[in-house]
Amino acid sequence: MKIEACIFDLDGVIVDTAKYHYLAWEKLAKELGFNFSKKDNERLKGVSRMRSLDILLEIGNLNLNNSEKIELAKKKNSWYVEYISKMTPEEILPGVVSFLKSLKDNGIKTAIGSASKNALTIIERTDLLKYFDTIIDGNKVSEAKPNPEVFLKAAKELNIKIENSIVFEDAKAGIEAAKNGGFYCIGIGSADILYKANRVIPDFKNFTIANLAVL
Ligand code: BG6
Ligand code: MG
Repeated sequence: MKIEACIFDLDGVIVDTAKYHYLAWEKLAKELGFNFSKKDNERLKGVSRMRSLDILLEIGNLNLNNSEKIELAKKKNSWYVEYISKMTPEEILPGVVSFLKSLKDNGIKTAIGSASKNALTIIERTDLLKYFDTIIDGNKVSEAKPNPEVFLKAAKELNIKIENSIVFEDAKAGIEAAKNGGFYCIGIGSADILYKANRVIPDFKNFTIANLAVL
């Protein structure tokens, strides 16, 4: 494969923000009178904010109307934003920066393809803006993953061929989105969960541009 571009999911691939999402959802669940476990949180990875809230309410056996749900999502987001606005570059996952640098050095284009509406805050706080040619986030798409819209938009903005690009994802829904869009997809995490990816790596620690050459 002649690789023209790499498209990265943000949460769980570039930075570990799942812990902040968890803290904020857990606080909301407590306020609503039930417990929300770390295992439950797995179900929210890659899932949009409103869909995440629906899953949370399902766990708590609560039925709320739309305006109540909007208020709760706002509340959760304000707590989440409090956490991420204190993030530093130290929270970038291991191996990520050197991999991004080598892509730049080798003329491979890069994009973020994230469901989050807070992507830009995270990228700015961690000083990563300079590594990406384009950022497609939750503010720029209307369809949530597993719909491929976010990755297709990134490919279009980069002006590259889908078959010459790779998507990096840590969530099931994200891998499905990449595959639905016709992309080669590398899962970040465990193969038990991410078996639909073309290949799974635990993290970027020992992953270099040389690994791309053999795809
Ligand atoms: C995804 C996360 O990247 O973004 C999900 O994996 C999150 O857990 C989703 O719900 C939406 O994020 P935000 O920041 O717009 O609430
Ligand atoms: Mg993710």
